[in-house]
Amino acid sequence: MADDTTDTKSSNQMWGGRFASGPDAIMEEINASIGFDKKLFAQDIRGSIAHATMLAHQGIISTDDKDKIVHGLNTILSEIEGGNFEFSRQLEDIHMNVEARLATLIGPAAGRLHTARSRNDQVALDFRLWVKEELQKTEQMLTGLIAAFLDRAEEHAESVMPGFTHLQTAQPVTFGHHCMAYVEMFGRDRSRVRHAIEHLDESPIGAAALAGTGYPIDRHMTAKALGFREPTRNSIDTVSDRDFAIEFLSIAAIAGMHLSRLAEEIVIWSTPQFGFVRLSDAFSTGSSIMPQKKNPDAAELVRAKTGRINGSLVALLTIMKGLPLAYSKDMQEDKEQVFDAAESLELAIAAMTGMVRDMTVNTARMKAAAGSGYSTATDLADWLVREAGLPFRDAHHVTGRAVALAENKGCDLAELPLSDLQAIHAAITDKVYDVLTVEASVASRKSFGGTAPSEVRKQIAFWRARN
Ligand code: ARG
Repeated sequence: MADDTTDTKSSNQMWGGRFASGPDAIMEEINASIGFDKKLFAQDIRGSIAHATMLAHQGIISTDDKDKIVHGLNTILSEIEGGNFEFSRQLEDIHMNVEARLATLIGPAAGRLHTARSRNDQVALDFRLWVKEELQKTEQMLTGLIAAFLDRAEEHAESVMPGFTHLQTAQPVTFGHHCMAYVEMFGRDRSRVRHAIEHLDESPIGAAALAGTGYPIDRHMTAKALGFREPTRNSIDTVSDRDFAIEFLSIAAIAGMHLSRLAEEIVIWSTPQFGFVRLSDAFSTGSSIMPQKKNPDAAELVRAKTGRINGSLVALLTIMKGLPLAYSKDMQEDKEQVFDAAESLELAIAAMTGMVRDMTVNTARMKAAAGSGYSTATDLADWLVREAGLPFRDAHHVTGRAVALAENKGCDLAELPLSDLQAIHAAITDKVYDVLTVEASVASRKSFGGTAPSEVRKQIAFWRARN
């Protein structure tokens, strides 16, 4: 918690003109946000510098006062960055902490900074800037994760593994193809991030409390100075909107869901029973009692972080759902949700990128599993359609009988003697054995987006060009 330095009994120096006494201790505690919104200090100072510069440019404050304000704000920035700033809970939030310090540093000129603005547009600005930067960071991290998958996909474009539906062996696929499925998912996450940056790229500052201002401000100037595309167009919406935060959380929740599915697969793949992958020592832990164990803790924690992120999304949607326009103090509860989710998402992406890059893939185990469970049964049915002219439904039935026979004999489809197959359907020739291997099965699936190594390589090239 922040240090309390000011006298509690006196009224607030920022808004206490009509208050005879200060707040109750509990009021102060429930009201203060400095404990978490101090994270916004850099955005707050950047916003104030742009605002003061615009005020002077418009002749609303003097150049002399503007210079003092800008100099003071820069001093405060280095104080905070250097850990030499005392945050006060009585000053509620980051905005008032900075402004009060500015008054100590430069005197009365500090009081001119808050002309033509309110904390309502100020917090909307600071938070938007923060979320924008976080989205940009997320975009880069997703690019790193996609790059890790592209490398693994390239390395394993030919490695055969079982493809699953219902977690039952379905048809052979390549590990490269499976990796590329995640490239598609994280690629969609990244395009959602890019769209969210476009949506939020409007500057709130100058909306003031909710109605705009009578001062001749230039909102286009501040928007430009702060790197926004343009100013927001409705002052009421501007101070009541937290869509940008909810969008960030939604994107984080969807990306988190993807990361969690991947985590779950890694947990399954790294069991001794599957043995498809071996995690590096760097991304696993041992057991204090069972020396043989290597636990996929990082994957499990990524799976769990998703729960936190979902919680944050639901929390903010719930905070906002009943609020009348425009600003209500409820909205102060937006930040912790976003900060927590951002931290969880960053950690999860970073841990996953490391795991994907480091894990050893056991291609022999994957190939052995790919051939089990009659995974080439569809290939037999397709052969009957193609070579013997059967309708697919009949071919399916014939294949079902072959599978039942193999199951009875305790062998694979490819191990059934030709006489057995011909007893089931006379049109079967020894050519059928060409399609019953897992390699032949994957190589035949050349449809666009299919699992054939040649197709997988095309998709890798497509993503390399856009990553
Ligand atoms: N700490 C507040 C928040 O995070 C800043 C805005 C306060 N505005 C107000 N009118 N009390 O939302």
